[in-house]
Amino acid sequence: MKKILCVAGTRPEAIKMAPVILSLKKESWADVVVLATAQHREMLDQVLSIFGIVSDFDLDIMQEGQELTDLTARLLVAVDKVLKNEAPDIVLAQGDTTTVMTTSLACFYNKIPFGHVEAGLRTGDISNPFPEEMNRVVAGHLAALHFAPTESARENLLRENIDDTIVHVTGNTVIDALLVTARKDFDLGIELDESRKLILVTSHRRENFGEPMRESFAALRDLAERNSDVEILYPVHPNPNVTGPAREILGGHSRIHLVEPLGYPEFVQAMKQAYLIISDSGGVQEEAPALGKPVLVLREETERPEAVQAGVVRLVGTDKSLIISEAEKLLNDSHYYSSMAQGVSPYGDGKAAERIVSILRKYLAEMVNNAAC
Ligand code: UD1
Ligand code: UDP
Repeated sequence: MKKILCVAGTRPEAIKMAPVILSLKKESWADVVVLATAQHREMLDQVLSIFGIVSDFDLDIMQEGQELTDLTARLLVAVDKVLKNEAPDIVLAQGDTTTVMTTSLACFYNKIPFGHVEAGLRTGDISNPFPEEMNRVVAGHLAALHFAPTESARENLLRENIDDTIVHVTGNTVIDALLVTARKDFDLGIELDESRKLILVTSHRRENFGEPMRESFAALRDLAERNSDVEILYPVHPNPNVTGPAREILGGHSRIHLVEPLGYPEFVQAMKQAYLIISDSGGVQEEAPALGKPVLVLREETERPEAVQAGVVRLVGTDKSLIISEAEKLLNDSHYYSSMAQGVSPYGDGKAAERIVSILRKYLAEMVNNAAC
């Protein structure tokens, strides 16, 4: 048996690690240990329970309004302790959060191989997204195995002189999770007027906090006021830097629904029902194209260029007039809308976890052979 420690700290990590954890659990050679750092508390629990995953360790790290240095320091010490006690053969983590960066560093210090799921995403700009670009560069340079979702992610790693033989293009596990979840319909439990066009919104990026986020919220309010056939659904991220301005600028409007974060099946349902999505989320940029929904991205740069190149995702930043004009073009120009609602998915075919498991099996078997030589 090989001990594989799978780490998840935040909502998107849990969504994207769930297919890997569930696939590994079916393998007789794999002893799967799940470490929840709980960098997110409620939002992590929400996802783990939907996928029926029970963590073996829970670090309960989250504090309200946590700051990066403190979060990093506490995570590094706590993850290190688990690694020392568990001595896994390999550790897996997904993405670019502080949980992932500290996990890769703790693995390096303990000389334990680290496998990076969703490896190789880059904007090339250390401040955008902040601090995620730095987090994934660190994790990328410490990884023994890279599971790149796309060919262009692989090329990013090769440009950083990562050895080609340890980089594998697998697709993104988010598509595995999405395809399974989207098969069924779920009740949103929110009263929406079906005769109106639904705009689904998410927003949480640190680099947008303050004025940029306020400006994008002002654009959403104006959009609702200028277009009586539109309804906005916004599950608000619980970060106090988001909830405050969201309530202040978007609250009290009859066609703007500010709700708590939705469970993953309900959010997928909301994406299916949406006419248009406006978001700064990484995961949503991958999921929405697969569901044929246009996305306006509230960011200046993206590490996910494939959907932009395919013409189904558009970067609008946080400029109020650009957000309004692009959204209204999609609301009013059916040809333009159709060109962005193609249902293409450059991020995977739903079999990424299967590929990751088979690569891991080979890697761990070779580790034993090499040790025996
Ligand atoms: C984190 C990640 C970001 C990722 C995002 C996914 C870092 C630095 N940031 O950003 O890369 O895109 O998660 O959503 O790793 N909170 C709750 N309950 C929860 C979750 C969060 O109350 O279940 C509140 C807490 O006050 C917490 C704050 O949100 O302190 C911020 O959480 P944090 O994980 O530091 O940052 P995110 O913006 O969520
Ligand atoms: N999501 C969810 N409930 C919500 C909003 C988003 O389950 O209310 C899911 C969404 O489908 C996607 C993931 O959360 O898979 C994205 O998480 P987030 O935007 O927080 O982080 P990012 O992807 O930007 O790191």
